[in-house]
Amino acid sequence: MTDAAVRRVRLHEWREGRDLRVSAVSDPAAAIAFLTTREQELARSDAHWQTRTADAALGENAAQFVAIAEDRWVGSATVLLREAGAADALGRAVGAARAEVVGVFVEPDHRGRGILAELIAAASDWAEAAGADGLTLDVHVDNARAQAAYRRLGFVGTGLALDTEVGREIQMHRPSQ
Ligand SMILES: CC(C)(COP(=O)(O)OP(=O)(O)OC[C@H]1O[C@@H](n2cnc3c(N)ncnc32)[C@H](O)[C@@H]1OP(=O)(O)O)[C@@H](O)C(=O)NCCC(=O)NCCS
Repeated sequence: MTDAAVRRVRLHEWREGRDLRVSAVSDPAAAIAFLTTREQELARSDAHWQTRTADAALGENAAQFVAIAEDRWVGSATVLLREAGAADALGRAVGAARAEVVGVFVEPDHRGRGILAELIAAASDWAEAAGADGLTLDVHVDNARAQAAYRRLGFVGTGLALDTEVGREIQMHRPSQ
């Protein structure tokens, strides 16, 4: 099992959040995992990371959960509450309000230890406390490892898919548990 502690990011932790994000977008799987590039993330200002971290730490519509093992940040997942009519991460209009999980990453040397389950559990608890009915996410059709990990945690395909500039993204949902 995991030796990492999972908790919500804190206001002052924008440097740690930035560094983990840069690590995520540098991963060999990044092209099928994230809708951004290492170059784009490295070009962002300190103000961007400060604002983003403040929202993720204190916001009512967003929360980032991080996994920390012996002071090293090794995993992250962010949950975003989307109102009906708002755009989701892929730019689609959301039919009904929902909680969307984005930015899921576990450092390679900490994979297979249950950290994703802990991150999703924390995201789920937060989303349900905010009134959401389960969690929704999009995963690349070629990202077999992520799909398997999500299925094991109770996510099932909704049947919806979207062709994006990086390929086809499949939507998955896990009802409230
Ligand atoms: C996706 C990610 C968070 C999953 O975390 P993890 O710790 O690797 O997940 P787990 O090891 O618990 O589960 C992975 C599952 O994929 C399986 N798997 C491992 N390697 C695989 C591969 N190359 N192809 C297919 N399945 C694979 C594992 O056997 C396991 O399935 P099982 O539970 O049925 O045995 C992590 O791999 C990661 O950060 N990947 C890079 C970023 C990414 O893809 N993010 C998701 C964007 S939607």
